Amino acid sequence: MFRKLSESSPMGIAVMDTKGQCTYTNLRYRAVFGVTFMESLGQGWTRWIHPEDRPQVLVEWAAAIRQQHEYTGELRLQLRDAAVRWVALRSSIMLDDQGVFRGHAAIAEDITERKRAEDNLRKTTERLQILSRRLLDVQETERRAIARELHDEIGQALTATKINLQTALRFPDPAAVTQTLQDSIELVSGLLQQVRNLSLDLHAPMLDDLGLVAALRWYVDRQAQRAGLRAQFLNDPSVPRLDTAVETACFRVAQEAITNVIRHAGARTLAVELHRQIQALHLIVRDDGTGFDPADIQGRATEGFSLGWLSMQERTALVGGRLECESAPNQGTVVHGYFPLVLRASGVNQRHAARKMGFPLKPQRRQNAPGLSPPT
Ligand SMILES: Nc1ncnc2c1ncn2[C@@H]1O[C@H](COP(=O)(O)OP(=O)(O)OP(=O)(O)O)[C@@H](O)[C@H]1O
Ligand SMILES: [Mg+2]
Repeated sequence: MFRKLSESSPMGIAVMDTKGQCTYTNLRYRAVFGVTFMESLGQGWTRWIHPEDRPQVLVEWAAAIRQQHEYTGELRLQLRDAAVRWVALRSSIMLDDQGVFRGHAAIAEDITERKRAEDNLRKTTERLQILSRRLLDVQETERRAIARELHDEIGQALTATKINLQTALRFPDPAAVTQTLQDSIELVSGLLQQVRNLSLDLHAPMLDDLGLVAALRWYVDRQAQRAGLRAQFLNDPSVPRLDTAVETACFRVAQEAITNVIRHAGARTLAVELHRQIQALHLIVRDDGTGFDPADIQGRATEGFSLGWLSMQERTALVGGRLECESAPNQGTVVHGYFPLVLRASGVNQRHAARKMGFPLKPQRRQNAPGLSPPT
């Protein structure tokens, strides 16, 4: 009866004698340990304990036998095919009618999935800690840069303008006044440009008003011009206005990928594409530069360097998307971002907003930069 019940149990069951020798194991127990019935008997099971866990488990198990108390532990097994499996083992002592110790009855449970989930949770927490530290660093660096720009560039130009205007007040000669005013106008024009650039670097307003396609096209043109890259931007005309969080995530991921092309790739050409798929928006950022080994990124990120890729992954994952990277030394790099097609709730009319801002939406543009093949 006991055997019948035990053979159908979803838990691994084993019986050990007073010396800790295994005298019985059920089907599930043998499956958890990956052993045959004969291999599971005696001390056989200890052979499959992971070498790193074995010394401690054996000491604790020997103490449980000697002191006739229960054993509880979570340990790793190294299976025949070298796979690692986590097992929770719990034993209770067996006493006969006279209260004499007769051995242990143990149950074994495969907890590999739970351990894997715990491991993922730990890694995610670690990544979030790195990212939040990084966020504070970035905020500080950005504030410093804005303060420098305001003080050194904009502040200097304003001071010069003020001195010019004060001088003009004192000049009786109208010709000299005209010259001073012209200098001041030039200074103010430069100032306007600087303020505009500063504001654009902080936030691309057309992302809110005109949407992802227009903002990305503008950004690609601007960055390519600044960096002297040949660039192409392709988009499916059917890309709709998406949820603000999805559009922002896609824009920021593209921004980081393009910054990486400019900083690291030494590329001649850059291609950015937006495709509408049935379930997803597909972003591609492709360059023909030096390429790299993507396997190196994770290590650098864990050490606190190179967090761009990590933050791209987080941004994508936060909106339910996925990121992939194809690259190898001297092969160029292609970054793929897949974002869920969550439509924008308020349905801002893109063309209306464009006209209102005096920023006509261009029709879909197709420029084929040499060296880059069009998407298939
Ligand atoms: N397009 C690319 N071409 C060549 N190498 C690249 C490219 N993109 C990334 N890399 C390599 O991958 C590394 C990691 O990129 P990542 O964006 O994570 O960090 P980073 O740019 O070095 O630093 P930051 O944290 O400021 O972004 C880079 O240091 C670079 O070596
Ligand atoms: Mg980067």
